[in-house]
Amino acid sequence: MSNYHQFDVIVVGAGGAGLMAALYASKTANTAVISKLYPTRSHTGTAQGGVGAALGNEGEDHPDWHTFDTVKGSDYLGDQDAIEFMCHEAVPAVYELEHMGLPFSRTEDGLIAQRPFGGHTNNITGKPVRRACYAADRTGHMILQTLYQQCIKNDVNFFDEFQVLDVLIENGAAAGVVALELANRELHVFHAKSVIFATGGHGRIWEITSNAYSYTGDGPAALLRRGIPMEDMEFFQFHPTGIYRMGILITEGVRGEGGILVNDKGERFMEHYAPTVKDLASRDVISRAMYLEMRDGRGINGKRYLYLDMRPETVNRYAALDGRKRPDGSPYVVTGEELLSKLPDIVDFARTYLGVDPVAQPMPVQPTAHYAMGGIPTNMYGEVVIDEANTVLPGLYAAGECACVSVHGANRLGTNSLLDLIVFGKHAGLRAAEYANGASFQTLPADPLEYANQQLDQILHSDGEEKVYVIGHEMKSVMFDEVGVFRTQEGMQKALEKIGELRERLKRVRKPDMGKVFNTELLDIWELGNLLELAEVTTVSALARTESRGGHAREDYPKRDDVNWLKHTLAWKRNGNIELGYKPVVITKFQPKERVY
Ligand code: FUM
Repeated sequence: MSNYHQFDVIVVGAGGAGLMAALYASKTANTAVISKLYPTRSHTGTAQGGVGAALGNEGEDHPDWHTFDTVKGSDYLGDQDAIEFMCHEAVPAVYELEHMGLPFSRTEDGLIAQRPFGGHTNNITGKPVRRACYAADRTGHMILQTLYQQCIKNDVNFFDEFQVLDVLIENGAAAGVVALELANRELHVFHAKSVIFATGGHGRIWEITSNAYSYTGDGPAALLRRGIPMEDMEFFQFHPTGIYRMGILITEGVRGEGGILVNDKGERFMEHYAPTVKDLASRDVISRAMYLEMRDGRGINGKRYLYLDMRPETVNRYAALDGRKRPDGSPYVVTGEELLSKLPDIVDFARTYLGVDPVAQPMPVQPTAHYAMGGIPTNMYGEVVIDEANTVLPGLYAAGECACVSVHGANRLGTNSLLDLIVFGKHAGLRAAEYANGASFQTLPADPLEYANQQLDQILHSDGEEKVYVIGHEMKSVMFDEVGVFRTQEGMQKALEKIGELRERLKRVRKPDMGKVFNTELLDIWELGNLLELAEVTTVSALARTESRGGHAREDYPKRDDVNWLKHTLAWKRNGNIELGYKPVVITKFQPKERVY
């Protein structure tokens, strides 16, 4: 067979989770990474504010406090064994990155610098704690570069600009993947003992998003088509501060450094919604507060945005009112130069995209679709589990945003995504290599390319009048309006009907470009199919959950309902329909309580 490759471990995706997995797998197994992007263009590179770890470099902190905050932030839907594991692994994981050469920002004493972030608290006082380890506002970029260099040093094999279209599962175990080489439209079979999916999120379902164009849910959609369920897909996070109308992320680090949110009346409205931590409440709480402010006519000039104010005079005034201190006990007073040095990209983005100098003017922001809490179900070793009893599918792994461990539950705390990908990327890599070293290759099917070819042929032989960008726009718009920060039965039903209509229309798109060299139109259509699959699963899962929890806020069911809904959703695609099942949340130390910030 031409275009046939064999590796012990295949990693699909070259963001932080994929690279960490590859690095660890490659220590004992022949490993390759397949990525639709050149690795350092992966979306991890856009993560800004920091990676969470209770180092205690700038004030008292403990992994157990981090654990509790994460459980509380998850609105008690996160699995507490996995959360405790992640928060304790965080400390050595960050030091490991430091030893790999990651250029963290430093305290005056030369320690890794740490800043406050939403929902991270001193568990005794309830006040914000400095837990986000940062490299200015380029933390994800630095992680990505560092891990890529380590992978190159460790002779990991890379197949850049290859799109994985299908996963091969034989005799109930992973057997490899099929990928399209973008440069020439040829299909390749990658025969493997272990396959790790680390393909990132699917925020491109929504109109306003911080997510890269590449975030089209390719991994989860490919697995869904092969009978693997998705977990907790109704929980999608809206980050409070996206650039108005564009959605580009303005890091929570701005509020960590003292910035505040302001309405049209000039009020710091978060004082009313989260009196203790205010602008550093969890993201679900802040995004909802922003919507309520805008709905009640207090958006700036009556419009659908608010101000994020990081002018030094504002920061210093509110820091004094809050009694905020530096770690050495002196009053917290900042200068424009200090903010510039800690948030250089934010200053640059605001100037470039808004024409606003954030040291002199407030920035117009709105909530932006940011992070998928749900995804491919795994245990804490990255093994994919396929049912209510957590049965492992041998040889199949997932890590990073495409996976649902679940450590984020119904709402992720900022900085826990970079943490998730280094901790669970590492363990997925270790487990995948260990499994591969004791397993044989599964025999491949007679025609391993069959399903991938079918998918491409359907697009290439399409001969309708529909335009792919119109279908995409209609999906994003209905999802943003009806399956966004606030949801209702009626609105989601409308969205579901629209998604069904769009799925049909996608079968009748205009004949695409037939070129063989970097045929991006072909890929756009295929990716939109993935987004529509996941939009459907999200909406069906959300319609069924008749409560409000974390990022899933229903106006018709405004209360959390632990009696009926303290459970994870599983969603399968069977015979063209979504079927739902449920499995229990792992609760170890913390009984669910009402969340107060
Ligand atoms: O606001 C931010 O810097 C985003 C971080 C995160 O999503 O963890």
